[in-house]
Amino acid sequence: MTSKYLVVLAAAATTLASPNGGSIGAGVNGAGVTELFGNSFGVPGVNQTYDYIVIGGGTAGNAIAARLAQDPANYTVAVIEAGSFYEILSGNRTQVPGYNFLTAEPNFVTGGITSLTAISILSEPQAGYNNRRVGYTVGQTFGGGSAANYMGYFRPTIGSFDYWAEIVEDDYWNWENVYPAFKKSCDFTPPNYDKIDPSLNITYDTDAFDITGGPLQVSYGNFQGPFGPLLAEAMTRAGLDAIPGLNSGKLIGHGTATAAVDPRTATRSSSSTSFLQVGARTSNLKIYPNTLAQRIVFDEQKRASSVLVQGHMLSERFTYELFANKEIIVSGGVWQSPQLLMVSGVGPASTLESHGIEVVSDLAGVGQSEWDQPYMSLVYKVNVTTSSQIVAGNVEANAAAVEEYLTNQSGRLSGIGAGQSLGFEKFPAHTRDAVLSNSTRGWLASLPDDWPEAEYLPLESSPIPADIGPDDYYLLIGSALLATSSRGNMTIASADMNDRPIISPNWLLDKGDREQALAAFLRIREIAGNSTFVESEYIPGPEVTTNEEIVEWLRNNMVLIYHGSSTCKMGPVSDPLAVVDTRARVYGVSGLRVVDASAFPFHPPGQPMASVYMFAEKIAEAILEEE
Ligand SMILES: Cc1cc2nc3c(=O)[nH]c(=O)nc-3n(C[C@H](O)[C@H](O)[C@H](O)COP(=O)(O)OP(=O)(O)OC[C@H]3O[C@@H](n4cnc5c(N)ncnc54)[C@H](O)[C@@H]3O)c2cc1C
Ligand SMILES: *[C@@H]1O[C@H](CO)[C@@H](O)[C@H](O)[C@H]1NC(C)=O
Ligand SMILES: *[C@@H]1O[C@H](CO)[C@@H](O)[C@H](O)[C@H]1NC(C)=O
Ligand SMILES: *[C@@H]1O[C@H](CO)[C@@H](O)[C@H](O)[C@H]1NC(C)=O
Ligand SMILES: *[C@@H]1O[C@H](CO)[C@@H](O)[C@H](O)[C@H]1NC(C)=O
Ligand SMILES: *[C@@H]1O[C@H](CO)[C@@H](O)[C@H](O)[C@H]1NC(C)=O
Ligand SMILES: *[C@@H]1O[C@H](CO)[C@@H](O)[C@H](O)[C@H]1NC(C)=O
Ligand SMILES: *[C@@H]1O[C@H](CO)[C@@H](O)[C@H](O)[C@H]1NC(C)=O
Ligand SMILES: *[C@@H]1O[C@H](CO)[C@@H](O)[C@H](O)[C@H]1NC(C)=O
Ligand SMILES: *[C@@H]1O[C@H](CO)[C@@H](O)[C@H](O)[C@H]1NC(C)=O
Repeated sequence: MTSKYLVVLAAAATTLASPNGGSIGAGVNGAGVTELFGNSFGVPGVNQTYDYIVIGGGTAGNAIAARLAQDPANYTVAVIEAGSFYEILSGNRTQVPGYNFLTAEPNFVTGGITSLTAISILSEPQAGYNNRRVGYTVGQTFGGGSAANYMGYFRPTIGSFDYWAEIVEDDYWNWENVYPAFKKSCDFTPPNYDKIDPSLNITYDTDAFDITGGPLQVSYGNFQGPFGPLLAEAMTRAGLDAIPGLNSGKLIGHGTATAAVDPRTATRSSSSTSFLQVGARTSNLKIYPNTLAQRIVFDEQKRASSVLVQGHMLSERFTYELFANKEIIVSGGVWQSPQLLMVSGVGPASTLESHGIEVVSDLAGVGQSEWDQPYMSLVYKVNVTTSSQIVAGNVEANAAAVEEYLTNQSGRLSGIGAGQSLGFEKFPAHTRDAVLSNSTRGWLASLPDDWPEAEYLPLESSPIPADIGPDDYYLLIGSALLATSSRGNMTIASADMNDRPIISPNWLLDKGDREQALAAFLRIREIAGNSTFVESEYIPGPEVTTNEEIVEWLRNNMVLIYHGSSTCKMGPVSDPLAVVDTRARVYGVSGLRVVDASAFPFHPPGQPMASVYMFAEKIAEAILEEE
């Protein structure tokens, strides 16, 4: 087997620089063998057969595709992705960690963005949010969410995975059995104090990584802000304890998060730069960019046998068919995986029938059970430097940051500006007594002991006032609610994958969730109030004071942190809303799995990306064991 080209830019760059010339995407390697960039790709419009077809080149999709393709059996694997490569389509925005705020924020309000690498699905009016509609960003590019997100990498808790195993009735998912899969997917680099201020002395859980892990790059980036230790001190004063890191199954307390950043280049490490690139170079993986899976086709025995896919010329669309010898894996993400199942005949029969879709498997749970994490941002004027001058477009600050980034791979742009002093807690007694009703406490008591209820996250690239001065700095301290009881849902608007699904995350729908939001808000004010670097509160500001005013402000201003899951949830046969079994196989059909955040039985506490990679590793192992 010839070693193939690095996908896309690396290929072009290598070829352009190669002494024997050649055009973009072609070269001759050291062994005299021709390497064609195009050989990593499927041919658009040509029907083809593969062993495995993965739908969605996102976070989970690229990871499972690479693992299947790298098996010594040399399976043929195709990855179908609606988008293309962000390195080409978004300038340098997606690659540079310090530009992460540019990819997501515009969606909060309008739901509309101009981007070739993401779409925004506007929610239904949300009653809990005073009937506002909020745009949910979905990375539509190789990398998916891992190419649209803030790159924070950390893992949920021991108790939450033991709980996962308990409710799905399979020890395959307990902590002891998932921890090795978390380690397997990533390659860790400790803080580099040639670039990061050594006085920050970042602690980390050394046993949480394996030297054999990879290909995802996990590090601290090459920049950490000076606010970190000061916020840590304030959190300690407010009652949160310092913990050594956020990757070994413990979250309650505060610590510094790792990030999916390759510290060698100081660029984003996505599932595309890691798993997809390695897979394309070393296996029979074929990539289909700009290709939308329209429908999964089932044979007489209800085996998923092929996928009808759509490519497009400049204005015309064309459809062709890719056949699977073995299995089809749906990795379309929290909204589009259930959408694709529904348009293919897997979902609630009445919904399918109302759109004229033939029912293959009547599964009431498709599109239900969604877990989400309602999110609030408070913003403080501070007297330490943050990214405010970069956000403000200060010409000197930006030029200096760009120069340092390009020449030394360091400085503000080389870090995510978000991972330091992340705090997690169960609300303390004084807050519970003040704002949580008995029924809310009852719900919270049903969750594992180590499951935090709120996460507190700083963000250096916060909103700033229009008249910001050249020496002014702001820091956002947000909170994501990790234990809300409202469940969201989605359904289809039509039988066509080109139409956006209808989504309703149901943020703060239950009264108890509004109590939790109030609790988190009050705790952020306590943390800020215990700090030595906060000068004043900019958002919402001192006029929002009484509990009633605060709840109203939250309902009018809270947004999302894009952590939806469980719309095709895993569960035992006895669970009427379960969509997949404990090996992610879709109930009622064969040859079909759902492998992404939509298949989680619930959203374990914290952020999802690390768990999505783990999930892909676990199901790849399950598939290869079954072979
Ligand atoms: C702005 C933002 C910030 C975030 N910040 C963080 C963070 O800091 N840390 C963290 O842990 N998590 C974060 N997340 C969440 C995390 O990124 C996601 O939970 C995770 O990436 C989801 O992975 P997935 O594999 O389930 O789906 P995705 O990564 O979304 O992959 C789905 C892929 O399928 C493709 N697709 C869908 N339908 C079709 C079709 N019919 N045909 C072909 N292709 C299709 C999509 O284009 C997409 O590429 C963030 C998310 C966003 C959007
Ligand atoms: C897979 O490919 C490798 C490299 O070409 C080859 O050595 C090996 O024999 C192949 N395995 C199978 C099962 O065909
Ligand atoms: C860094 O922190 C660790 C753990 O808190 C401590 O043992 C060590 O002395 C610190 N090192 C420096 C240089 O401050
Ligand atoms: C390719 O698949 C499409 C869609 O199923 C079908 O209409 C077409 O006839 C096939 N083309 C060939 C050459 O088999
Ligand atoms: C990113 O691209 C923009 C537009 O070309 C440029 O102005 C900026 O300097 C680049 N940033 C970095 C870090 O290279
Ligand atoms: C790059 O690093 C070197 C060595 O630490 C330092 O002297 C130089 O000023 C840095 N350059 C920039 C642009 O930050
Ligand atoms: C709340 O719960 C406590 C302890 O279970 C109980 O004593 C009290 O009566 C309850 N209050 C209300 C209003 O239900
Ligand atoms: C989604 O939830 C909302 C609020 O409970 C409900 O009104 C709506 O009917 C649900 N939609 C679907 C498709 O389940
Ligand atoms: C500091 O934190 C404590 C404990 O949470 C809290 O009671 C106190 O009100 C906080 N101080 C300020 C000024 O907010
Ligand atoms: C920062 O602000 C706080 C609160 O106003 C103040 O106590 C502290 O002295 C200030 N620090 C500096 C370095 O200005």
